[in-house]
Parts: sequence; structure tokens; C-alpha cells
Amino acid sequence: MEKLKNKTAFITGGTNGMGFATAQEFINNGAKVIITGRSERTVNKAVEELGKNAVGIVSNAGELSDIFELQNLIKKHTNTIDVLFVNAGYGKFNSIENVTIEEFNEVFDMLVKGTFFTVQQVLPLMPQGSSIILNTTFLTDIGQPNMSIYTAAKAAVQSFIKTFAAECTSKNIRVNGISPGYIKTNIFNNTGMSTEQIEGTIDAVTPTLPFKRFGEPSEIAKTALFLASDDASYIHGIELRVDGGLSKTKS
Ligand SMILES: NC(=O)c1ccc[n+]([C@@H]2O[C@H](COP(=O)([O-])OP(=O)(O)OC[C@H]3O[C@@H](n4cnc5c(N)ncnc54)[C@H](OP(=O)(O)O)[C@@H]3O)[C@@H](O)[C@H]2O)c1
Repeated sequence: MEKLKNKTAFITGGTNGMGFATAQEFINNGAKVIITGRSERTVNKAVEELGKNAVGIVSNAGELSDIFELQNLIKKHTNTIDVLFVNAGYGKFNSIENVTIEEFNEVFDMLVKGTFFTVQQVLPLMPQGSSIILNTTFLTDIGQPNMSIYTAAKAAVQSFIKTFAAECTSKNIRVNGISPGYIKTNIFNNTGMSTEQIEGTIDAVTPTLPFKRFGEPSEIAKTALFLASDDASYIHGIELRVDGGLSKTKS
């Protein structure tokens, strides 16, 4: 059954990882999808792979001027967005002593201001019965060294889930979040870590995970489909953990 038949979804950061997998899942369920990414190259490549039910917009989630253009750019394709997945993002990982003002601003501009103003700009296009999904992280549950600014920014997003939900109730728009655990994506490529550091981190982390594996982007995509669809019609203001038990179990 096509769970998003005749629906249009807007996914920030849809060129790769969870956003791309979600775009695929939504299209497979009958939706038309608009994705964003930071460069024409990545956006065009993704749209080509996603096929005729996808269009792309080059838009940087960390640039307010780009975000304030979104409504106009979306309106070139549609006047209605039924599902908004605010997903674009990455972290900068550094010790408290070494975090720079530039890193702090980059992460907060993209994740906090970016999330807030993307919702502000897209909300007027969303009819009753729509769904907003924000992407957070398991890190807000456990706290890890060198993750202070990323985790704090995601904690702000976590807070938006509740306040946006309260505010959108009267519009009959549901707002929820997905809290991913370690997922096999390209996220580490944006962190400034070297290939060796990335491989070392993956090798060190994997045995510590409850199921001894990273999650797949498709596992987030299926969750996003659930929250976007009528299957979740009475779910509002929650953050659904998709972390293989990482934040809640010990073995
Ligand atoms: N992977 C994990 O383990 C994990 C865990 C918890 C939470 N998360 C969160 O999940 C979300 C998706 O990340 P992912 O793991 O799927 O990473 P990914 O594979 O690197 O994909 C990130 C996506 O976001 C886009 N993007 C990044 N910065 C952007 C910006 N400033 N403006 C617009 N688009 C931007 C990228 O597109 P371009 O490169 O084309 O710009 C790409 O499409 C992020 O919010 C991340 O914080 C990830």
C-alpha cells in the first residue's frame, strides 16, 4: 500500500545518508519529494538517482538567506508540503578547550537556527493533517567527550519537538522527532576527522553497540515513513529512538 499517495514531502539534506534513504522510501510509497543539499553537484546526482518523482533545491541549512528563499523556491514546484523532514546536519567534534567560535557558530547556525527557520518558512505551506519530523541524536541521552556543541545544538532541536508540537496542535499538524543511534552514513566526512580516525572510530564503536552493528539509513527511513503517515495519526510531540537500544540498555 502506498502510504504517502498524493503527498509531497520536503527533506533537508536529502542527497545522502538518512535523508536520501527517506526520499527513496517516501517515493516508493507514492510521494513526490523535494530534497535539499549544499551543492548543485550533490543535489543533481541524488535527483537523478531518485527519478521523476524527485526535485532538488540547492540550499544551505546554515545560511539564513538561503532558508528565507525556500518558500519561493518550493512554490516553483508545489504550493503544498504534507511532510517536512528537517534532517540536514553534521557535528564538529572537539574538546571544550579546543572548540573555536567558528565551529560553535557553524553547528548552531545549521542545527538550531537552521531547524527553527526552516520550520517557520515551510509551515505556511503545510495543510491540516501534515507531519513535521525533526532529526536529533542519541547523544542527548548519554553525553560523550568532544561532542559538547553538537549535542547541545541537538538538545535545542529536541526541545523544539515539544514546543512546536504544542503550537501546531491547533493547526492539526503533528510534530515528532527521530533520535538515531550510530547509523552507517557519510556523516563523519563533514566532521574534519581523517579517514584513519573515521575507520578507527567505527572499529572501536561497533563492538560496544547492543547489536554489534551500525544502523542502516533505511531503518531511519522506515521510521520516518511511519511518523509521516496516517499510521502515526495519534502520535504527537514524541522523539522515537532508533538506536538499537544504545541509549537505554547495557549488556
Ligand atoms: N549518522 C549518524 O550516526 C547520526 C546519528 C544521529 C543523528 N544523525 C543526524 O542525522 C542527520 C543526517 O545525517 P546523516 O548521518 O544521514 O549524514 P550524511 O550521510 O552526511 O548526510 C547529510 C545530509 O545533509 C546534507 N547537509 C549537510 N549539511 C548541510 C547544510 N548545511 N545544508 C544543507 N544540507 C546539508 C548533506 O548534503 P550535501 O553534502 O549535498 O550538502 C547530506 O544530504 C543529521 O542531522 C545528523 O546530525 C546522524
